[in-house]
Amino acid sequence: MSDAACQQCINKQCGATYCVSETKVACTKCGSLLDIKYDWSRLPVPKDMSFFEHRWSTKGTGTEGRDDFSGVWRFRELLPFYRTPDDIVTIGEGRTVLQTADLLARQLNMKSGSLLLQYEGLNPSGSFKDNGMTAAFTHARMVGAKRVACASTGNTSASLAMFASLAEMRGVVFIGSGKISFGKLSQALDYGALTLQIQGDFDACLRRVRQIAVDVPQMGIYLMNSVNPFRLEGQKSIMYRVLEARGWESPDWVIVPGGNLGNCAAFGKAFAELKELGLLKKIPRLAVINASGANTLYRLFEQQKLRWKDDAYDTTAVQKYYAVMDESNYEAHTIASAIEIGRPVNLPKALRALAIMDGVVREVSDEEILEARAMVARWGFGCEPASAASVAGLMKLLAEQVVSPSETVVCILTGHELKDPNVTVKYHTGVDMKSVQDLAPRTEPHGRLANRPVQVEDNLEAIVRAMGGNPGMLGGREIQGARSSVPIAEY
Ligand code: F0G
Repeated sequence: MSDAACQQCINKQCGATYCVSETKVACTKCGSLLDIKYDWSRLPVPKDMSFFEHRWSTKGTGTEGRDDFSGVWRFRELLPFYRTPDDIVTIGEGRTVLQTADLLARQLNMKSGSLLLQYEGLNPSGSFKDNGMTAAFTHARMVGAKRVACASTGNTSASLAMFASLAEMRGVVFIGSGKISFGKLSQALDYGALTLQIQGDFDACLRRVRQIAVDVPQMGIYLMNSVNPFRLEGQKSIMYRVLEARGWESPDWVIVPGGNLGNCAAFGKAFAELKELGLLKKIPRLAVINASGANTLYRLFEQQKLRWKDDAYDTTAVQKYYAVMDESNYEAHTIASAIEIGRPVNLPKALRALAIMDGVVREVSDEEILEARAMVARWGFGCEPASAASVAGLMKLLAEQVVSPSETVVCILTGHELKDPNVTVKYHTGVDMKSVQDLAPRTEPHGRLANRPVQVEDNLEAIVRAMGGNPGMLGGREIQGARSSVPIAEY
């Protein structure tokens, strides 16, 4: 199948293409992000989305039955980048629920049936990331990767660690020291990933892991962050499931929290492709919700009016924005640790998605996130703080009359409530369990499978050593500084 698919630079002026059997974190020529492109005329595309429904009855054992069980691969004709079905790495991800949330709708003065919550926290590792990991691991298996890595605010690391263990690859996760919730840290440790706690934030972790993936090839790192275009192919399926649950009717709005902006980017691509294939009548509108302490997209899109136009955008505006951030030593801060990101790598693709889906961006405060999270728990099945940004954003859009109470709205709840119980307990009792944990006496872990996190400075040499490499692998490259030699354009 894969010869009808390629990787293509999203910068139209460059437009370089690469074979799907190559492993890239960016376009080699210009540093822009890559997309997976399909020559649909050479692929067996269903005539109607209802084609996919038969797979509810064919799910089961054997390769096809196993793929039909997955909420990602039962739509495999819409992400046909793999060579053979044997490449597919699946653990039964994506069997998630679109709940008609009438109790919550009533609280928001919305009409019955108009508010729907897409519970991506019901994935095996408890977040939407599993949709993307299954696709990226499929590609990793295709190219024979042995060691996979990511930077993470927690959920990507949990998902990577789970898939790596089951696919028998070595998982390495880079997390900001003290930056991720205990639920997510516990998953990375439990599933056996080498867990590097870097002295820095998510942006620093991502810069380092990209640097190692490109600059230190001897480490053999396959990068699993959402700069990996295969991951986003899997995340398109969240939208297919929303449509499926609605009898293939689009809602009026899709509202999603924005962090590194991979999810909204994937949604835009999903709808653009369905439209191109004649499989969808109406594209819903998109609302991406930032936390106000991590609001780069909001500032650029709503305040500076940065737009994706004629397949391009003003890269200088972004460079200037980041230069000001650097000068002021800006660091993102929000209670919604999953979306505490200042330099979202998928910014260009998010701008493109906003153009495809006639989107808006809003920011919400930590207080608004906490109230919305409590409401989803009280009148739904619960979610982690970052996920509730979507509902907090909806409340704002209703107040502004951008969304009307009778429109059909799908809020994506990206992570499970139990990912971050500290926030919940603090909300209800006032007790900050995290500070209690910090003071707790420490003992040597002695379990047979104990997997301690490793504290590392934000320093390339130290990180390479912690991963079992040696400084000779750096070939005299930058040792102390934070800047990478990776050609990463802000495109
Ligand atoms: N919600 C949750 C629960 C997340 O974990 C993330 C991202 C987002 C929303 C934002 O999604 O990045 O596609 O815009 N978490 C990443 C991580 C960054 O490392 O787990 P996005």
